[in-house]
Amino acid sequence: LDRHDRINTAEMQARLEAANANRTSFNGDEISEFVDLMQVYEGAMYEISTKLDVLDSEFQVRFEHNPIHHLERRLKSVDSILEKLGRKELPPTTQSIKDNLFDVAGIRVICNYRDDVYSVSNYLSAQSDIQVLRVKDYIKNPKQNGYRSLHVIYAVPVFLSSGAHYTPVEVQFRTIAMDYWASLEHALRYKTDLPDARLNEHSQTLLDCARSLQNVEAQMQNIHRDINGAPQGDEA
Ligand code: GTP
Ligand code: MG
Repeated sequence: LDRHDRINTAEMQARLEAANANRTSFNGDEISEFVDLMQVYEGAMYEISTKLDVLDSEFQVRFEHNPIHHLERRLKSVDSILEKLGRKELPPTTQSIKDNLFDVAGIRVICNYRDDVYSVSNYLSAQSDIQVLRVKDYIKNPKQNGYRSLHVIYAVPVFLSSGAHYTPVEVQFRTIAMDYWASLEHALRYKTDLPDARLNEHSQTLLDCARSLQNVEAQMQNIHRDINGAPQGDEA
């Protein structure tokens, strides 16, 4: 909901050239193709975030309730793109990015309540100018570790001089509680210097935390529904 810097072309070129020295990256011609492609992903990301902004204001006007607590946007870094292509044994070409990576443009929508997650995502998914490519509902079906979020990949038309380019954007919808949990779990995941026994203990505790947060969230959701006149106790 705030302004971010546009992509830094010079820095992107420098990173690609640095990676090129290790022959893991794009050749000279492909570097400008890559920068052009990132511009398209950025456009798609801003289109979706504007749509979310508009929905949030509409809810504010109609229901005096802001479903979105805040938005986070990011373009995958050059290094992460190269790392992911390498990990998946894919060639470092713009075509292979287009065909295989659906999370180059990413938006995280942090909502106040679980109901908000579903209403915002349903209204966005119903918009006629964008397509839903994939849905993973880790709220209805949490991951083994306790992770919860609703992931939707949209295809958004970005209109350039050459016409419409349908571009994927990964949107992660979650509540404040889910985000709170995911941040700590993410931090733990990169703590590879801890002994296994402690990592396992923390993972187990985090799983308990996920369940507790889910309960707290359900109770608070019910209070919120009650004071806003919506039916209580419906989990779906
Ligand atoms: P990759 O993107 O290739 O990893 O696989 P995918 O697209 O099948 O993954 P998925 O949709 O399940 O998850 C994509 C993103 O969701 C990750 O990049 C994280 O941001 C987030 N995510 C998924 N699982 C977890 C988790 O267990 N913990 C945390 N903290 N974040 C997760
Ligand atoms: Mg992903």
